[in-house]
This record gives sequence, structure tokens and C-alpha cells, in this order.
Amino acid sequence: KIIVLDFGSQYNQLITRRLRDFGIYSELLSHKLTADEIKEINPKGIIFSGGPNSVYDPNAFKVDPEIFKLGIPILGICYGMQLMSYDLGGKVEKADNSEYGHADIEVLNDDAVLFKGLPKKQYVWMSHGDLVTQAPAGFEVTATSKNCPIASIADNDRKFYGVQFHPEVRNSEYGLDILRRFAFDVCGAQANWTMDDFIDMQIDEIRQEVGDKKVILGLSGGVDSSVTAVLIHKAIGDQLTCIFVDHGLLRKNEADQVMDALSRDLGVNIIKVDAADRFLGKLEGVTDPEQKRKIIGKEFIEVFNEEAKKIPDADFLAQGTLYTDVIESGTDTAQTIKSHHNVGGLPKKLGFKLIEPLRKLFKDETRELGEKLGIPHELVWRQPFPGPGLGIRVIGEITPEKLEIVRESDAILREEIKKAGLDEEIWQYFTVLPGIRSVGVMGDGRTYDYAVAIRAVTSIDGMTADFAKIPWDVLQKISVRIVNEVDHVNRILYDVTSKPPSTIEYE
Ligand code: XMP
Repeated sequence: KIIVLDFGSQYNQLITRRLRDFGIYSELLSHKLTADEIKEINPKGIIFSGGPNSVYDPNAFKVDPEIFKLGIPILGICYGMQLMSYDLGGKVEKADNSEYGHADIEVLNDDAVLFKGLPKKQYVWMSHGDLVTQAPAGFEVTATSKNCPIASIADNDRKFYGVQFHPEVRNSEYGLDILRRFAFDVCGAQANWTMDDFIDMQIDEIRQEVGDKKVILGLSGGVDSSVTAVLIHKAIGDQLTCIFVDHGLLRKNEADQVMDALSRDLGVNIIKVDAADRFLGKLEGVTDPEQKRKIIGKEFIEVFNEEAKKIPDADFLAQGTLYTDVIESGTDTAQTIKSHHNVGGLPKKLGFKLIEPLRKLFKDETRELGEKLGIPHELVWRQPFPGPGLGIRVIGEITPEKLEIVRESDAILREEIKKAGLDEEIWQYFTVLPGIRSVGVMGDGRTYDYAVAIRAVTSIDGMTADFAKIPWDVLQKISVRIVNEVDHVNRILYDVTSKPPSTIEYE
């Protein structure tokens, strides 16, 4: 195991991710850990992550200086290298120009362990305002660049290394090799960790934490809550009860698919609550998007609470929080980028203890885990679907008739995209009912019916997106089918805006 101490860089969890990809177990831990606590963990190596502070800042994140006496190899990245240099007697200063982006470095020593066998000139990703201007005693400078004369340092005796650049990001040409050199050659770690080990570890942890108590979980049918449910079920069986609130805003057949896959086939204990009438009742006459979201969110919590109360002595609430949710909502060291807006995110004040077994994982790791746990491929690889569901895809007032139109047209769109083999290429695709009606002609008669918009985007994380270029013939087929098969639709629109300036959803 190699641990990464967190100094607040946006890339810090990416370091642990890279190591796990190498087959080495790694986790991100607080920089506040003491040397004794680290000794207890007994890692093969320690990585200090980057971070936004300046080491001279009185509020800068520090480490317990005793860590340097443990005899464990350390790699400092960016702020991590500056902190190590500063703590061991080197000098760190503000750079004349802060550097952000590509830089060319030159390796100075053929024997430099981190660069062994790699080209002497390579480009790396830099992102810093300070730099090390004098390496501490015992260190040699092993790489240099124009704006950063001390780009990498090494003390082979103590096995302390530092790089000013970020080897964990793909923009560093040989970054992964450099991390590998540290992990395997310096720390002597072995590539023997797999997702199965993660499952075993989590099962042990969950069993220990829960004991003979009960756990409840709000199942949305999405990937994260489904994987969490199956993992916890594997650990504690029927001590887990899932509450699946069907708010009537799900996609076609979605509720049945979830029940079949998780309850019937995998034996997870699920209470399905049919609350469609209740939600639609509350939404009647409401047209404002935020108002709709609030009503759906509030109702969801109420329904969940009513059901949860029926389960006596449930002490724990399980949630499918992923690492990206943790970082977006702000942590000890990271700033809040946006508050997580998931209706499945139940408020803390419900009074349960939280279990979040996925909080160290990225989305694709969660999917891999889901497949390992036997959840069907389609469910694990499904596109993102917002908590408020089809409710925010019917613009303006939600009525059963309009819901039926988005639900049916969405099902046709999904079927055709899959048939065309585009389903894993396009990140998210769905139909929207913008609420406009227009004149058309069908047979010999005039119609005055709804327009349906097709929204399809490519994206990596949903933060930015490009509209997807679905081939015309596929679009044509979708258009013809929707108009023919869905009542009260006489026009199909294709959305050609990216995010920004639009958002992916319409409300
Ligand atoms: P926007 O519309 O903000 O959407 O560009 C970005 C991504 O987030 C999804 N989304 C939500 N997911 N609860 C969720 O769980 C929500 O309230 C919500 N609103 C938007 C959206 O589908 C897209 O993938």
C-alpha cells in the first residue's frame, strides 16, 4: 500500500487512482496524520500531493516532521516537494512568473531513479506559483527546466524524491512511468491489488462497522446507489433495506428493470414505493423550474422518511457518494466548486450514521465494481439521469399526457441510438418536451400538436459538453418513428448547443 497525503490539489485523488491502476492499493489520507498513525498503517511509500498553499503561509498545510524519520520513501509532488524541501532546510520562493501548462524538462543525471530509461528531454505539466530555489542538504537536483531550475530532486540515501511538475496528469509525457519508478523501484511495491480485494476489504469494513445493526439506503436506480446497495447486501444481507421511491418521473420500464436486476436476481431487499400520484399532485400547476426541483426533492425526502420510520432500529444510512461528489461539495482541503444537486442526497439531520463505501472511487471504477458484483452491463453503463427525472424534461407544467410523450419518445430515441451502436459514444441523450405546439399536416388534415426536442451531448464529466453529431440518417429514423408512434407529436427539433452556454438539461 502507498498512501497519498492530501494538501488540497484538484489532482490529488488522481494519484491514488493511478497507483490502483498499477495494481497497488492506495488511498488519499489527511495531511494531519501523525507519524505514529502512519507507522500503524505501515505503507511502502508516502506521496505528498500538490496543493494551493504557499509553504510560508502561516495557515499552510503542514506534516508531522517525525514523518521524515520513519524510514519510509517519500515522493513530494509540486507543493509536496516544496513542503519537503522547506521542512528539511531548503529554500522555497515565489516564482517570478507563476507557471501553468506544458514545460520542457531536461534530466541531469543518467542514474536518476525516477527517470531511469526515460528520454532526457520530455514535457511535463506544471502548475505552480512558488518554486524550490535551494535543495536541502543531502539532495541533488535531477531535472531542470527554463522557468524552474530545480524541477526534480533526489536523496537516494533517505529515499526522498520531489518533482515540481504533476506526473499524475496525462499531459506529463512520461508521468505515469515516473510514478511507476517511484512505486515499484523505490518503494518495492507489488502489483497484486485488484477490484476483488477492494470488495473484500469493503465487506470487512462494513461488517465491522455495522455489527448486527440495520442499514437503509435510498435507491434511485442509478449506477452509484445500485452498486452501493449490492456491495452492502453482499456484506450484511437482509440487514440492509433499500427504499426505492418511484416518483412517476422515471424512464420507460426503468422501475421494473431495477427491481428485476437487484431484487429478483441479486436478492437485495427493496421496498418499492409507488408515489407517482403523490408527486404529480404536488406538481400540479407548477411551472417554475426551481420550484419543481424543490418540490420533487422535498417530497422525495418525505416519502423516504415515512418509509424509513417503518423500519425499526435502523442506525445507518448508506449512500452512493463518489469521490467526485466529495470533491465537488468541498472537503477539508478543497474548495467548493458546486454543491451536489442530487435528490437522492438526503439531509444529514435525519439522524443516521452514514456509510459511503464508494467515496474513494471514480465513476469508471464504480462501474467496474458493479460488473464484478454481478449487476447487468446495461444498468452499470447507463447514462446519467437526474434525480428529478423526467420532471425537468417537461418544460412548464407537468401533466400525465406530457410525461407520456417524453417517456415514449425517449424510449424510441434510446432504442435507435443503441441500434446504431452509438450508445457508448454519446455521453447523454434524451428527449425534451419544450411545451410548444405548432401547426402540421398529417394525412389530409391540419394538426396542432407538440414539438419534441432531441438533446444529445458528448462530455467527460458533465461540467462541459458538446452537442453530439448524430448521423442524419439515424436522426431521420428517430424523427419518423417518434412522430408515427407517439400521439400528439408533429415536429422534431435537434438541439445544437454546447455547454456552456446551454446546460445539458433544460431546467
Ligand atoms: P446540467 O443540466 O447542469 O447537468 O448541465 C449536468 C449533469 O448533471 C445532471 N443533473 C442532475 N443530476 N440531480 C442529479 O442527480 C439533479 O438535480 C441534476 N440536474 C442535472 C444532468 O443530467 C447532467 O448529466
